Amino acid sequence: MKAKNCLIFGGSGQIGSFLIRKLTKNNVRVTVVTRNVHQKGLKIKTQANAGYINIVEANIFDEGKIEKLFSEADYCINLVGILYEKKRGNTFKNIHTIFPTLLAKLCKKHTLENFIHVSALGINEAIDSNYAISKLEGEKKILDNFPKSIILRPSIVFSNSDNFSTQFMTLLSRLPIFPLYYSGKTKFMPIHCSDLTDIIYQIISQGSDSQIIECVGPETLTFKEILEILLNLINKKRLLLPMPLAIARLSAKFFQLLPKPLLTEDQLRLLKYDNIPSGKYKTNSDIGLPSKLYFKDQVKKYSYMWRDGGEFSTEKYNLKNIEKKN
Ligand SMILES: NC(=O)c1ccc[n+]([C@@H]2O[C@H](COP(=O)([O-])OP(=O)(O)OC[C@H]3O[C@@H](n4cnc5c(N)ncnc54)[C@H](OP(=O)(O)O)[C@@H]3O)[C@@H](O)[C@H]2O)c1
Repeated sequence: MKAKNCLIFGGSGQIGSFLIRKLTKNNVRVTVVTRNVHQKGLKIKTQANAGYINIVEANIFDEGKIEKLFSEADYCINLVGILYEKKRGNTFKNIHTIFPTLLAKLCKKHTLENFIHVSALGINEAIDSNYAISKLEGEKKILDNFPKSIILRPSIVFSNSDNFSTQFMTLLSRLPIFPLYYSGKTKFMPIHCSDLTDIIYQIISQGSDSQIIECVGPETLTFKEILEILLNLINKKRLLLPMPLAIARLSAKFFQLLPKPLLTEDQLRLLKYDNIPSGKYKTNSDIGLPSKLYFKDQVKKYSYMWRDGGEFSTEKYNLKNIEKKN
């Protein structure tokens, strides 16, 4: 069967790498657009066989350059997103609203079969978060311009190459005390990256009647439970300390000055809202694609690298066992 062509924006990130592997293994050819081929080219290229992957360097607002790519594409997937704003063009509005609107218009103009846009869970509820407002506005504009689009709203996405479990394990292994925002009660339904990319692949190949699908993992965990699981996996004991909101706000004001902020004021506002299905839209389980992978089981596979002794802390490579054998 002739391979379909999929145009991917934001394919060098966490979800992108898993997705390129999933699609290309299933006879889908991909073209990945990146801002900097020198920096990201090798990572993107090694996710698939050479015949299945094409990399294009472009600014996402270089309409002339990106439009040419649409004439060859059957599907388009947008994974471009930011967690905090930076100077100049890197604003929530540009990245989450204006850019996806441009993609939807180009999908319509070039009559693509499908446009999948990865948005985020909980954005209807988080009314005081600029991140959520920009994502929600982007979704509306996409559906206005190309109603065939399918919007996926994942809860936190985790994997061995995320910025979530790995970053928290680094912080937990270095800090003696860890702050609990909102007493650690905010609920999440973490979804493993491969479960999410399975959903994307199924939808792209078979379509879906739902315009918006909320994508969640198999269990609900509070922020505190997530930290406790991670502490248990890295064999560390830390004081998890509920942080008064005023101090949390003050620390976010300071952290957001860093080049790669640990926490921004906007993220703090977002953390106030549970990250669970709204009940207004179908979930991945409702459309027959439930998630299979549990947070603890998956993180266990790489968490030992944050323990004292790294791989030597595991039963298999415990030095005493190795010495006994030799
Ligand atoms: N990870 C999660 O927990 C999670 C949860 C809910 C929703 N999402 C959404 O899912 C999508 C993908 O997430 P991810 O975790 O794979 O993100 P990621 O690892 O941070 O990757 C995002 C990609 O966006 C591109 N990008 C970032 N800023 C850009 C800019 N200014 N101009 C052009 N491209 C830019 C980058 O591509 P290049 O550097 O190659 O250009 C990067 O590969 C995002 O929209 C995110 O909001 C993620």
